[in-house]
Amino acid sequence: MVRYELGELIDDRPADGIFRVSRAIFDDPAIFDLEMERIFEGGWVFLGIADQARAPHDFFTSWIGRVPILVSRDGEGMLGGFVNSCPHKGSRVAQTMSGNARVHVCPYHSWSFDSAGRNKAIKLKKAGCYAEAFDGQSHDLARLPAFEEYRGFLFGSVSADVPPLAEYLGEAAKLLDLVADQSEEGVELVPGGVTFTYDGNWKLQLENCSDAYHFTSAHPSYIRLLDQRQKSNSQSAVKSVWEKTDYWKEDAEGDVQGGSFSFDHGHVLNWGRFGITDALPLYESAERLAERHGEAKRDWMFNMRNLTIFPNLQIAENASSQLRVIRPISADRTEMRTWCIAPKGESGDARRLRIRQYEDFFNPSGMATPDDTVSYENCQRGFASRVEPWLQGYSRGMSASRTGGNAFSSVIGLAPARSVLADAQLGDETLFHSYYRAWAQRMVGALGA
Ligand code: FES
Ligand SMILES: [Fe+2]
Repeated sequence: MVRYELGELIDDRPADGIFRVSRAIFDDPAIFDLEMERIFEGGWVFLGIADQARAPHDFFTSWIGRVPILVSRDGEGMLGGFVNSCPHKGSRVAQTMSGNARVHVCPYHSWSFDSAGRNKAIKLKKAGCYAEAFDGQSHDLARLPAFEEYRGFLFGSVSADVPPLAEYLGEAAKLLDLVADQSEEGVELVPGGVTFTYDGNWKLQLENCSDAYHFTSAHPSYIRLLDQRQKSNSQSAVKSVWEKTDYWKEDAEGDVQGGSFSFDHGHVLNWGRFGITDALPLYESAERLAERHGEAKRDWMFNMRNLTIFPNLQIAENASSQLRVIRPISADRTEMRTWCIAPKGESGDARRLRIRQYEDFFNPSGMATPDDTVSYENCQRGFASRVEPWLQGYSRGMSASRTGGNAFSSVIGLAPARSVLADAQLGDETLFHSYYRAWAQRMVGALGA
């Protein structure tokens, strides 16, 4: 039973320059249950990319909140989204993260289903003495009430009461275009995805992806290594784009180095300027991309971009490129599924650079992710306190946040709801407001007014 009123959890008073979030939304199990119901099981959730089920009968499994999901390509090449739960007694049918199967056999009593979700057989049916009414029922896997693709990105909902996907993505769809358009052939996930968990709330990951403020504090070993590489001018196999930019340097003050955009429905982007550098694997395509998409859009593909499509998809592109799927397990436990996402058809050299830089920065064994997950777990311990429940990590950038876009968004025809331009030190926190305004909209009615 949730005893909170919305105003006790999100203190959103723009006219007074106040935005605060209560620790309770990160660690109260009753709020977590409501989030699953209202946010994950009540709206669009990212499931995976179409290329994960490339060939007929390919499938992968995913989650919408607590509900197990099966995405399968049928024999005719059509993708379908299903609840991965047997109509017999509810067991998960597909057991693996991905594979190829014409027929899925439930491990409990062997009911079987084809790649279009249709029931193919009920074990020992004739001997089963079923009543006639049984044949009148569907024994197929339940289809998702909503399942749509945008540029190869697949989303589903266990609720039919959702807007069309294009409306939900809104302007943020153009940021998915910046990923999808890097190759005419589209994108793929590089083999070697990694799943890991941390003992902290799912919104810690949601925020961290968009948090430029933590970089110089939480990742000192990575920054020291970049300095060393620069000084030794090493011919290290791992070049880094960070060596070629002042973005991470505390003293690079004054100029516009990047900023943030916020969109309706909780989607956000923070970004930084890298320029067209050979430290990026995309460099080999720089001219071709400018010819095809124009220079402005090409330049944006080379910017550092951390994109969140609320509530569970994040695509981070800097020295390499990562796709992350956030799966909340409980108020204080989260599973992350992460892959290197890459344009199809890039050269072996570009792919090698992408993978080396991915290992360097993104992998759980790399130099950034462990720093972040340790910080999440530190925060989660601190959330136990209600002595002063309000968190203040939403105030940086308040006086720099503007309604609408700016010159950097209009150049690619992007119209965000709000924007901030930043030097290397701003570390905008106002883009998180978008998450919590979307959160509040979904939770209205479930909490007191
Ligand atoms: S639960 Fe699937 S066959 Fe019984
Ligand atoms: Fe980080």
